Amino acid sequence: MSEPESKTRVLFVCLGNICRSPMAEGLFRHHLRARGLLPRFRHDSAGTGNWHVGAPPDRRAIAVCRFHEVDIEDLRGRQVRLADFSEFDFVLGMDRANLDDLKALESRVPKANRVAKVELFRDYDPYGPGDVPDPYGGGPEGFELVYTMVDRTTAALLDALVERGHPRAAP
Ligand code: 4NP
Repeated sequence: MSEPESKTRVLFVCLGNICRSPMAEGLFRHHLRARGLLPRFRHDSAGTGNWHVGAPPDRRAIAVCRFHEVDIEDLRGRQVRLADFSEFDFVLGMDRANLDDLKALESRVPKANRVAKVELFRDYDPYGPGDVPDPYGGGPEGFELVYTMVDRTTAALLDALVERGHPRAAP
């Protein structure tokens, strides 16, 4: 059976799709599940780069999430595609470089097919706005910082979407 049209579709995007955006997808899923909203939303994550297509999240991202009892091991990397701008309602870049790359990709999509709002993820952070710093080249404390930032921002994002009437009823 195809999915009901009333789902709100959210795509989280970083560079590699193995650290920040899978943590964001996993935490968004965690908050959706806790609020009984899982069936009403579609979530995914992707990278602007293609190095980690098909790969699980970085083991340090898996570990920090597991420490907080959030499982992200099932997620697999993929690259952003032009169809994402038509198939999602929100495409959220984890830092400004991701957002710039997303805007450049969006410009290649015919205007009539642009459905998604393309935004900076931390525009939804009550402590933000700003970048989610790339933790890939650093130590475990970077992953803990990203976890804290992404946890509160995904919760606030969900609050904001619900406040704005998402998911919308099917037409
Ligand atoms: P992410 O971190 O964008 O948060 O997934 C990175 C992961 C891998 C690479 C860069 C950033 N990389 O160059 O392979």
